[in-house]
Amino acid sequence: MSQIKTETGPLGLPTSYMIRDIRIDPAVVLAPMEGVSNIVFRRLIRSIGGCGLTYTEFIASKAIRARNQKALLMADFDPDEYPISVQIFGKDPEEMAEAAKVVEDLGASILDINMGCPSKKVCAHSGGSALMREPKLAIEIVRKVRAAISIPLTVKMRSGFDANQRNAPELALAFQDEGAEGITIHWRTREDGYKGTRQIDKIAECKAKIQIPVIANGDVTNPQSAEQMLRETGADGVMVGRGAMRNPWSLLQIAQHLRGEKPMCVDREAQKSMLYLFLDRHHQYLRHEKATLGKFKQIAKHFCTEIPNGDQLRRSLLRSQSIDEIIHHTEIFFDLSLSQQPPLQNQNVI
Ligand SMILES: Cc1cc2nc3c(=O)[nH]c(=O)nc-3n(C[C@H](O)[C@H](O)[C@H](O)COP(=O)(O)O)c2cc1C
Repeated sequence: MSQIKTETGPLGLPTSYMIRDIRIDPAVVLAPMEGVSNIVFRRLIRSIGGCGLTYTEFIASKAIRARNQKALLMADFDPDEYPISVQIFGKDPEEMAEAAKVVEDLGASILDINMGCPSKKVCAHSGGSALMREPKLAIEIVRKVRAAISIPLTVKMRSGFDANQRNAPELALAFQDEGAEGITIHWRTREDGYKGTRQIDKIAECKAKIQIPVIANGDVTNPQSAEQMLRETGADGVMVGRGAMRNPWSLLQIAQHLRGEKPMCVDREAQKSMLYLFLDRHHQYLRHEKATLGKFKQIAKHFCTEIPNGDQLRRSLLRSQSIDEIIHHTEIFFDLSLSQQPPLQNQNVI
């Protein structure tokens, strides 16, 4: 079992943690997000800084075991992305073990098992968060995967399946006993979906129960929410999901705060440049205009919520049918807003 070697900064908050011999520095990681955290998004967030670890989108064990082209593309990462965690989901222990071996052979730093996905499609086949209702099967999966690979193995789950089955701490302990080396917990249950009332007690309970790193997840979007989560749970690090789409600098701002530094401010020029980076990098990667528009819009609809009066821009971008149209609307919006408004005082910064 790995010893926790979490380092803390001047505020007594974690600045880095270890998954076996891999130092995750800073103790802020980008969440796996299907359809979002592809190689382009991950590299963009990394290039900003403040991100200790990235995860691929979840990949079906069946597909990766069969070395399906699309699955291999999802598992693809760049040499500049280390450390990188590749996440798989499934319900068949043998299949999961074989898929994990493929991931190890691809050179991933860490293999992560998804036990948190609430999607009906995944749960209907007992994968994702449905595994939390089948502890024996979940434990067997961890055991078989552990035996199949030598790289570190981690598990990401929710606090439970529903309000009556909030069993993350018991599962975390069992997974640790089977050789898992890190646990991420999203405070919501599967039943909560993306709503629910904030209840982080199970993350704190996990932290008290196990000796491997616990990463806290759910609505961590800025330095304040990160600090609150870490103080209330004692977790070793935080994971940021949707917040990274709204404010790609949020991981850096959190990391700076954890180190006791003043978080950077984001101005409108930087926001405009970031929109173009999303567009340009996705176009370079996907090559097709339609596919680029799809990915761009998915991120832009979150990104615009952080821009003052961004609703108007969001609507124009989502209606756009071409890259030229996107550029046109972006130019008009920022030309107007840069000439009319004072520099953005980033509200995320403490
Ligand atoms: C678009 C989207 C896709 C997601 N895909 C995955 C996934 O592939 N694997 C996973 O473990 N969680 C997935 N999640 C859940 C996130 O990793 C994270 O647990 C959740 O969004 C809560 O964190 P947040 O409040 O910081 O967004 C996804 C979430 C979103 C919004």
